[in-house]
Amino acid sequence: MSQHSIQQPKTLVWDIAVRVFHWALVGAVLLAFVTADLFGATWLTYHIWAGASAAGLVVARLIWGVTGSTYARLASFVTGPRETLRHLRDLVTGRAPRHLGHNPLGGWMILGLIAVVLGLAASGVAQLGGIFKTGPLGFAVSYATGEQLSELHEVFANLLLILIGLHIIGALFESWRTRENLPLAMVTGKKERRNGDHQVSQAKAMPWLAALLVATALGGAIWGARQLTARPAFGAAVAVLDPTYAAECSECHQAFNPSLMTAANWVLLMQALPDHFGEDASFDDQKQKQLTDWLVQNAADTADTKASHRLRATDPATPYTLTKTRFWTSKHRDIADETFKRAPIFSRSNCSACHSDAESGQFFPPNATLPNEAK
Ligand code: HEC
Ligand code: HEC
Repeated sequence: MSQHSIQQPKTLVWDIAVRVFHWALVGAVLLAFVTADLFGATWLTYHIWAGASAAGLVVARLIWGVTGSTYARLASFVTGPRETLRHLRDLVTGRAPRHLGHNPLGGWMILGLIAVVLGLAASGVAQLGGIFKTGPLGFAVSYATGEQLSELHEVFANLLLILIGLHIIGALFESWRTRENLPLAMVTGKKERRNGDHQVSQAKAMPWLAALLVATALGGAIWGARQLTARPAFGAAVAVLDPTYAAECSECHQAFNPSLMTAANWVLLMQALPDHFGEDASFDDQKQKQLTDWLVQNAADTADTKASHRLRATDPATPYTLTKTRFWTSKHRDIADETFKRAPIFSRSNCSACHSDAESGQFFPPNATLPNEAK
């Protein structure tokens, strides 16, 4: 008996919320991948928004999974291992029934995709807190932990790519097996009813309850994130420069945040002020001591920012030159010599020409730009 020889009227399987969720998630994940891999770190803000949107969509989908219409419900497609194995065996022997909604394997795929997106969001927020000292976990996570979590974030990202690949293969395979365009059904929402379809119990959508729950979850998340973000960041650099330091050491260039160099190297620099990069920048003894003490107290050794960790490893031949460190040269490799010489930059050491947060010692990548030539 051929199950699909008689044309059956189409029925709505994927309600509008499921379809909007599905394609919005595709968009958010695509944007997150593009802004992470194809563009530089200066696109981090867009990456963060894309990731936050994906996480928000997934949470909304879980809520719709208990309040939505029949095939949106988790209960309609989440099955135990035994039933999943049976479906697998029936697939092999060609006896698997057609499911109007997700089949057991598809159901597990949905849960897997949701879990990995949530894992990406959580490791992303923790990494942002540890490495860049910003966001809800800036107060709690160290740089070292942030670096480790960035590896976990990448593992999740690769896992997501694999799951997406399997999900597409699964959808194409099932389209072929049941002679039905499943990607199109995720656009129109409609599928043919056929004899022998696997039956699920009907459920009525509760859109108002869903809207209330989503609004509460979203509002709560935003409120909580703001409360946490307002806490002082763990190991942030000194935010306000000492007025004497800011005045004396900004005569020829901007005053560098003390967190960018170790106490030992600041002492070396201060001792060598009479011959400071070819200039005499020396002070009387009292001011010399005052400035040195302040630099030492707020040096890289006391901070936990990415810039402090990466720039403190200076070249022994030039112990107090940030622009000669491996990290600095690798990060600015793509910027042409000419760019550094032109107005209003003039020098590699003029960090604040390109980094709007240079004074704070933060150097958050989205705050870096190449300024246009002064008119
Ligand atoms: C008389 C001018 C002058 C004064 C005052 C001065 N500097 Fe400098 N500084 C220079 C010059 C010139 C360079 C070389 C880089 C450049 O060409 O911009 C430099 C470079 C530096 C660098 C290395 C930047 C890099 O490229 O990695 C540091 C760090 C630094 N100065 C710290 C200080 C501190 C701290 C003070 C205050 C105690 C100070 N400077 C005062 C002229 C000055
Ligand atoms: C001509 C503009 C320019 C100048 C001058 C400049 N930078 Fe940058 N810097 C950039 C850009 C653009 C990036 C982003 C590169 C990327 O996409 O990863 C960057 C990246 C960085 C990063 C890495 C941020 C991260 O977490 O990935 C640090 C740290 C940094 N700069 C420090 C400095 C310091 C310190 C100075 C001054 C001694 C300086 N920069 C001078 C343009 C500049």
